[in-house]
Amino acid sequence: KTITNKEKYRVLEKSDLQNLKDMNEEIKKSKFRQKFHIQPITGLLNDPNGFCFFHDEWHIFYQWFPFGAMHGAKNWYHMTSDDLVSWKNKGLALKPDTVFDNRGVYSGSAIVYDDKLNLIYTGNHKDERDVRHPYQCVAVLEDNKKFVKKDEPIINMSQDYTEHQRDPKIMYEDNKYYIILGAQDKNLKGRALIYVSDDIYNNWKLLGELKVKGYEDFGYMWECPDLIKIEDKYVLIFSPQGLQANGYKYNNIYQNGYIIGEMNFETLEFIPESEFEELDGGFDFYASQSANQNVYENTAVLMAWMGLPDSSYTTDDEGWSGCLTLPRELSIKSGKLIQKPARNLKILRDDVITSHISKNYLQKIKTPLEIKLEDINSKNLEINIFSDKNNSSNSGFKISFDNKKCEFTIDRGSLLNKINTNQGFTRTIKLDMLDKLDIFIDNSSIEIFINDGEYTMTSRVFPTDEECMLYIKAEDNIKLEMCRLKELI
Ligand code: FRU
Repeated sequence: KTITNKEKYRVLEKSDLQNLKDMNEEIKKSKFRQKFHIQPITGLLNDPNGFCFFHDEWHIFYQWFPFGAMHGAKNWYHMTSDDLVSWKNKGLALKPDTVFDNRGVYSGSAIVYDDKLNLIYTGNHKDERDVRHPYQCVAVLEDNKKFVKKDEPIINMSQDYTEHQRDPKIMYEDNKYYIILGAQDKNLKGRALIYVSDDIYNNWKLLGELKVKGYEDFGYMWECPDLIKIEDKYVLIFSPQGLQANGYKYNNIYQNGYIIGEMNFETLEFIPESEFEELDGGFDFYASQSANQNVYENTAVLMAWMGLPDSSYTTDDEGWSGCLTLPRELSIKSGKLIQKPARNLKILRDDVITSHISKNYLQKIKTPLEIKLEDINSKNLEINIFSDKNNSSNSGFKISFDNKKCEFTIDRGSLLNKINTNQGFTRTIKLDMLDKLDIFIDNSSIEIFINDGEYTMTSRVFPTDEECMLYIKAEDNIKLEMCRLKELI
């Protein structure tokens, strides 16, 4: 369906509120509504933005197009939480209502400054001829009520790069503020720019490009860059576009990954100590953002969009799309990033449905659910989640481990609702050993944590009513624990 510019760039008005409420009532009836993930009240959700801890609460925002499951002029929608587990809808935070952001309030981050919550975002301006001119801007939360935009942008577009300059992540280092900004150079290579200032509202200066040795030619655009300190290392996280699929790697249309290294803010050199690794091996994971405050001061907690640009999902026809991933706690072990379910997620657990040791298991399941498998001992394993009772070993979302090939594979090609068929039905990672799986299943997603966070695989799935079985077949005895999870939404 083609949409007009008027529909695409529509700005939310007070008069739309009743209509959105009605839409939300309809959408709530969907069987694919999640029970413990952040999802849009209506329309489309993409990147997480402004993730931070402020005045005893976690805050996160999402990129939001309210009027349907499409990418139009984006808003920021605000959510808060005490524990990173249950979230409250706080309503619209920023909408595209100034000349600087007339085609969208694009992604960005948050910082507490002067005891106030400040949002740093990209104003996606386009002129009458549809030429883009991005601005980096600030809005301040006043009286704990309203986000007020500063009159002028803090950073204007650099003429040395193309129009793709966006997604500012702000950080504080050695008494200075830095912004790392996604960009594209004139040879159409992805870059990250570094800006510095003493005060977040004024005098921002472009220091130059982040120099990442070996990554001068690594995709045509770097979206959503993020630079965080974990223990004594720096981790550069970004979403490069334009990498060619290569064996097990880069099979999604766009990637989201990390490099561990050392950062020198004087020379702007980031010295890699690891290769670029994808954060997640599943189908739907992009534009992650981290926060390192509160209990995560020496580590970080990260959330991502459980979706991808240029993709469609079963719920598009219901007028909504997208959700965020669970928060993950980051740490570094033997030069690799470890991602565990955030520690508080324990409180999601409700009754234990089963806890036993066996080789085979077949049971009707009801979501939301957590499945933990232990003592797998690198034996062959097959799991079918959301399989059909008449064919439970060969339907549903298939997970398998092949210990000869050391391959761990997920396959969503046997589910009845097929999505993004042009992106392939399987994803495989190479695993030298498999011991533990921790799988979080919501009404329309499966997040797999492998070997205590060594790898993760995250995917949207849209099971029909008939697809309601769980089948497990292991080569040898394994420990299985299954818990009902709380329905928070
Ligand atoms: C990533 C992204 C960002 C941009 C935002 C717009 O998904 O394209 O680069 O700021 O989404 O919604």
